[in-house]
Amino acid sequence: MKTAAVILAAGQGTRMKSTLPKVLHLAAGRPLVAYPLQAAREMGCEPLVVVVGHQAGAVESAVTARFPDARLALQEKQSGTADAVRCAQQAVGEADRVLILYGDCPLLRAETLKVLFDRVDAARAPLGMLTAVVDDPTGYGRLVRGADGRPLRNVEHKDCSDAERAIREVNAGVYLVDRAFLFDALSRVTSNNAQRELYLPDVVELAAQRSEVVVVQVPAEEILGVNSRLELAEVERVLQDRLRKSAMLGGVTLRHPESTFLDADVSLSEDVTLGPGVQLRGKTRLGRGVRVEGPTILVDATVEEGADIRAFSHVEGARVGRDAVVGPFARLRPETVLEEQVHVGNFVEVKKATLRKGAKANHLTYLGDAEVGEKSNVGAGTITCNYDGYGKYRTEIGAGVFVGSDSVLVAPLKIGEGAYVAAGSVVTDEVPPGALAVGRARQVVKPGRAEQLREKAKQKAGK
Ligand code: UD1
Ligand code: CA
Repeated sequence: MKTAAVILAAGQGTRMKSTLPKVLHLAAGRPLVAYPLQAAREMGCEPLVVVVGHQAGAVESAVTARFPDARLALQEKQSGTADAVRCAQQAVGEADRVLILYGDCPLLRAETLKVLFDRVDAARAPLGMLTAVVDDPTGYGRLVRGADGRPLRNVEHKDCSDAERAIREVNAGVYLVDRAFLFDALSRVTSNNAQRELYLPDVVELAAQRSEVVVVQVPAEEILGVNSRLELAEVERVLQDRLRKSAMLGGVTLRHPESTFLDADVSLSEDVTLGPGVQLRGKTRLGRGVRVEGPTILVDATVEEGADIRAFSHVEGARVGRDAVVGPFARLRPETVLEEQVHVGNFVEVKKATLRKGAKANHLTYLGDAEVGEKSNVGAGTITCNYDGYGKYRTEIGAGVFVGSDSVLVAPLKIGEGAYVAAGSVVTDEVPPGALAVGRARQVVKPGRAEQLREKAKQKAGK
């Protein structure tokens, strides 16, 4: 049996008060719309159809970046959820049935959908849906049941009678529907309601008139829809809770789970330890035994086995090799590669640079557009001058080089293997292998002159 998925994401999300379309707001680093897509994919749905409308282009790029095979259907005017599904008819094609999800409900899990699929299969029902019993049903559609408990119809909050408003079993906005029935029923939905919209949930009543409607009740948490920033924060809280638990069950120590923030695309190996205040974002990957002290932020970083990231570091788009030590107070910017056993210490910034095995830059240094050879040592206060206001130039330092403290390396520059740069040098010319480069004025010592100088200064100041 072939099941298509239709994800509704055409609405503006007025209540978000944002220029960004609602379904592109991020939760645990992913746009909201990616969550129902992922759940539908996990259920084996094909094709995946996303109904776009408000800022269609932006939603489309975010969708195809993550789900290149998703189909887009355009709803020109947002005249209701029933109309939105109707717009997806062509893209759905010949699938036997359709799973409908809302783009603003990211907490629904595939395991829960599995229960819906199984129950609908067992009952051979034309329509199955999810509901939840909630404390505050404001804003949701209510499921109206007959005296015998049989599901009869959905009534939207704004259309509720006083008695209906008191119903606490609400519609999750998730349906598994026979395709032929669905599109026939949609053609019969009218906008004869408080909002003058075509309501998708009206198909529930049409299904109930024909046969049994399968209703699966799920925990309230899973159906939470994001309508305002308040719900967005609540969704983030639930996602963080799930991500922290799954990290811990996967063998990761979180010394203070409440202050550890993980994006959904982060991957962690066993025996990783994260300290208080660690944020791991994007596609960050940490190998076995990696330790990260907080507060520290890693964005799209790859950290290999046994490496140590110390407190107050910021790492973005960088690769940190085995057993390397980074920080405290280090900044690694995109395209930084630290090979194994490299040490990058406090107040060191590295950008688009490779430090080969065992190289060290431990204090107050900037390395940009550079390569530092195996076991070379970059002294405190050294910087590469990689930029002249127009172009960027490279600095290449061979293996076993010693760069003395407070050196200025003016790129383009090569320093050969085993060379030595005297402290305080401004190096502008290539240094051959094994050479000593001294690029500073020679020291002069004038015995007794200190006292004379002081006298002069006193007179000048009239003291
Ligand atoms: C909807 C349901 C309600 C349910 C609740 C669950 C309807 C009429 N009501 O209400 O029964 O309890 O979800 O969260 O369906 N959208 C379109 N095109 C449109 C209108 C909406 O694509 O013309 C999309 C939105 O982008 C959104 C989703 O459909 O992702 C739901 O729309 P929304 O306006 O948030 O519906 P609710 O009022 O929350
Ligand atoms: Ca909603």
